[in-house]
Amino acid sequence: MKEIAIINGPNLDRLGKREPEIYGSESLADLEKLLRGHVEGRGVGLDFFQSNHEGALIDRIAAAAERGTAGIIINPAAFTHTSVALYDALAGAALPCVEVHLSNIYRREAFRRKSLTAAACSGVISGLGFFGYVAALDYLLNGAAAVR
Ligand code: DQA
Repeated sequence: MKEIAIINGPNLDRLGKREPEIYGSESLADLEKLLRGHVEGRGVGLDFFQSNHEGALIDRIAAAAERGTAGIIINPAAFTHTSVALYDALAGAALPCVEVHLSNIYRREAFRRKSLTAAACSGVISGLGFFGYVAALDYLLNGAAAVR
C-alpha cells in the first residue's frame, strides 16, 4: 500500500485553541479525519504525526525515507523559518514533498516570510487552511508524476 507521511511541527497540536483568528477553529484531529476521509478507498495509508520537537520531526522524515514512503506533506510551523537541520533531513530524504502552511506566511510578520525548508520541497502551499493539505495530497497521489 502506498504511504504518505503527514508531518506537523510545533504548536500545531493546539490547533483550534491557538490564535483561531489566524489558524481557524478546527483541531489537528479534525485535520486528520478530513485527510483520512479524503483517501478512503484509494489504497493509500497516511502516517499522521505531530511533534513539538525538532529532532523527533527529523527522525520521522528519515524513517519515511527508509520505508520508501511515496511522499511527505510537512508543515514545519516555526521551524520553517529557523531549521537548517529540517532542510537537511528533507533534502536527504529525496522524496516528493509539499510544504504546507495554514496561514499565508507572506502576508504576516517579516520573520515568517523566509522559509529555509521550502527549497528542499517540490512546492509550497500557504494560506489555504486545511484545503492546502488536501491539495498537497492530491498532488502527491496524482500530480507528482505529471508536473515537474
Ligand atoms: C504556520 C506558520 C508559521 O509561521 C507558524 O510558526 C506556525 C504555523 C502555518 O501553518 O501557518 O506555527 O506554519
